[in-house]
Amino acid sequence: GKRYRKKIIDHPRVASYAFAFDIDGVIKNGPQTIPYAREAMRMLNGDNKYRILVPYIFVTNGGGNPESERAKDLSKRLDCEINEEQIIQGHTPMKSLASLYKNVLVVGGVGDTCRKIAEGYGFENVYIPLDVMYWNPAVSPYYTLSEEEKKICKKDVNFSKTKIDAILVFADSRNWAADEQIILELLLSKGGYMGTVSKNYNQGPALYFAHSDFIWSTDYKLSRYGMGALQVSIAALYKETTGKELKVTRFGKPQRGTFKFAKKVLSNWRRDVLEEYVEVLAEIPDGEDEDAVTKRLAKSINMGPMKKKCSSRRGSNTSMSSTESDESGDSDEGLTFRVMNAIGRQIPQPSTVYFVGDTPDSDIRFANSHDESWYSILVKTGVYQEGTVPKYQPKKIEDNVLEAVKFAIRREA
Ligand code: G3P
Ligand code: MG
Repeated sequence: GKRYRKKIIDHPRVASYAFAFDIDGVIKNGPQTIPYAREAMRMLNGDNKYRILVPYIFVTNGGGNPESERAKDLSKRLDCEINEEQIIQGHTPMKSLASLYKNVLVVGGVGDTCRKIAEGYGFENVYIPLDVMYWNPAVSPYYTLSEEEKKICKKDVNFSKTKIDAILVFADSRNWAADEQIILELLLSKGGYMGTVSKNYNQGPALYFAHSDFIWSTDYKLSRYGMGALQVSIAALYKETTGKELKVTRFGKPQRGTFKFAKKVLSNWRRDVLEEYVEVLAEIPDGEDEDAVTKRLAKSINMGPMKKKCSSRRGSNTSMSSTESDESGDSDEGLTFRVMNAIGRQIPQPSTVYFVGDTPDSDIRFANSHDESWYSILVKTGVYQEGTVPKYQPKKIEDNVLEAVKFAIRREA
């Protein structure tokens, strides 16, 4: 790709560290983009005193749109190109469930957008609560489908004969009463068929939530109840009915599964950025300062000098630290070759990942719990309110995302 071509030539270093950003309360509040966010991205894209390019991704618990749409929206808000490969939403790792369940009920979001997202993830039969209400309007006595809603319904499904294997709450419910009614009926059902009740309440479908944020930050002055509040509400009704605790599998922050996913996404993205960088280096004509630039690259991604026979260590988890490498290993092919070779196999983990979030319970907990090299920064533009004590202590508190970026760039200099 040509994405970074110009930037790379202007800014000849790639950072060994990286960034991950929360979105709501850090980059935006509802429709409003937080004004500091644009400049923060500009700095990471190389417009900084050190002329360094810092790779970054977004890890939001939000969702309800395909990752490609989210990338478009962010690109517009931030006035730079954001790629869908840089984005993890609450439901993104739920892709991994597509091979496990045949029929799923996907809840949340506007219209049938989440159905389409789930189909895009590879789920075979995706139903939404509107389909169930179309099948039998009496399911939800106080809600009548609009003509618009009827248009997007699957109309030929008999839910008393169609087994729902799993319920996936993808995004915030737009209709709590009806959605809760349907989710609970299925949880209590005999094998996932509407209109049935199981004896011991142990035959219902599996329940998954894209995240568990109890509150979140919008353009209203106080935080709003989120998907986690719906979960609490469903759990309370379930317990009231059955006497049992609700079983839920949670995705999103602060879950470890999402962390692992995020690490993978970040390492792919860094590799992408570096590959492009090396491509540009390879084009630099003889006689130019190739060696110096390449050495800087090698240094800036912490690879250190490498052995000539890279292939012998293929697949190993070890990063290529200088202590393990042969100092005299300058190969005949030159550093560019060796850098490319290294990128072809494996690049080292980022030295530090700065995670910028606004919600202690999900963001700070997420960044603090899974990997020592992640550095949590809490900002004051969202859920966290100055003067309160965050339940999970960040390594640093900053006013906003721009201050967070400035802080980290200074710290790394
Ligand atoms: O529904 C989205 C919200 O709960 C949190 O989004 O970007 O702050 O993780 P974010
Ligand atoms: Mg947030």
